[in-house]
Amino acid sequence: MIDLSVEVDGLKFDNPFVIGSGPPGSNAQCMIRAFEDGWGGVVCKTLSLDSSKVINVAPRYARVSSSADPKDKKAIYGFENIELISDRPFKDWIDDFKRVKDKFPGKPLICSIMEEHRKDAWQEIVERCQDAGVDSFELNLSCPHGLPERKMGMAMGENPDIVEEVCGWVMEKAKVPVWAKMTPNVGHITDPAGAAFRAGCQGVSAINTILSVMAVDLDTLRPQPDVEGHTVPGGYSCKAVRPIALRMCMEITRAFPGKTLSGIGGVETGEDAAQFILLGASTVQVCTGVMLHGYKMVKDMKTQLATFMEKHKFEKVSQFMGHSLQYFTTHADLVARQHAAKVKKTLEKDADWKGDQFVDQADALTRAKVQG
Ligand SMILES: Cc1cc2nc3c(=O)[nH]c(=O)nc-3n(C[C@H](O)[C@H](O)[C@H](O)COP(=O)(O)O)c2cc1C
Repeated sequence: MIDLSVEVDGLKFDNPFVIGSGPPGSNAQCMIRAFEDGWGGVVCKTLSLDSSKVINVAPRYARVSSSADPKDKKAIYGFENIELISDRPFKDWIDDFKRVKDKFPGKPLICSIMEEHRKDAWQEIVERCQDAGVDSFELNLSCPHGLPERKMGMAMGENPDIVEEVCGWVMEKAKVPVWAKMTPNVGHITDPAGAAFRAGCQGVSAINTILSVMAVDLDTLRPQPDVEGHTVPGGYSCKAVRPIALRMCMEITRAFPGKTLSGIGGVETGEDAAQFILLGASTVQVCTGVMLHGYKMVKDMKTQLATFMEKHKFEKVSQFMGHSLQYFTTHADLVARQHAAKVKKTLEKDADWKGDQFVDQADALTRAKVQG
């Protein structure tokens, strides 16, 4: 009997699939739809106390695809956004949290918050949201565009001292679990993650989007997405970021065993999610995937995860959480292992590369896996 449920920091999720902060959790109607369709949890769109400063532009998304057919959503592998946090008034969010919790009292509603570098603002938003009944917090210390201009988001998350300070302010007031959401736009993600844990956060979420320039249009010569002919660097997400997210999740769980990790980045299938769990995540968040395929995608993801578990005779998610971490080692150890195994190596020396067999030789050195 396969059991997809997970218990994390005292929160009970029916399954590990959680809506990642962004458009799919923009208001009560969207969050209710997510729970009706079977998502294990929802992180709402990031909110702040004063939304009057938040002004979005349109278009604010751009995407890259391996197909010319815009309806072929599976072919889209990269997505960029220059969207800000929620522009909805704080009091509307408080009403929404009550509405969602009234309808789904047992489902984890995770409140994503962001504020300026002011202790009173962070503590006020924490107290007012938890009074409205949210089950936990995710601190957005990681949005890479727009808000760093106001010293928010990634401007905080890339500085471990500020991460520790802000998380400390939150932990003074929080009565529910707190996860700090990490930016991948740093050299060592374990530095801000360690700062969040030192401040007492129960977990971290990783990753937010990767700072990017999506493309330059070769007809107009304008970078994309162009807003009245101009743009700003944005945040990259979707399938293309998954290997980077997996690497960063692995680094966090190896550095902080036993701490909570919510894995995020390019998840669209149950098999993608299984990989994050194998590297130590207990929940897996999806944002861009929902924007491309709709809330209903969770049904297939649950079936795919259950099929994976059945194949390996895992009955519970906790039985394979972090299982694959043991297989990371050093390059020197890989060399020693091949030596001990007496493996006959393909193309042992760089001098063996041949101009007329070059592509075949590169193929022979490649482990290819088709997925998703
Ligand atoms: C349009 C859009 C808006 C987003 N808004 C937020 C946000 O308000 N707060 C936040 O923490 N992350 C936000 N994100 C980042 C996602 O939650 C997620 O970390 C990132 O996109 C990688 O996951 P994905 O590939 O499943 O989208 C946004 C992403 C997108 C695509």
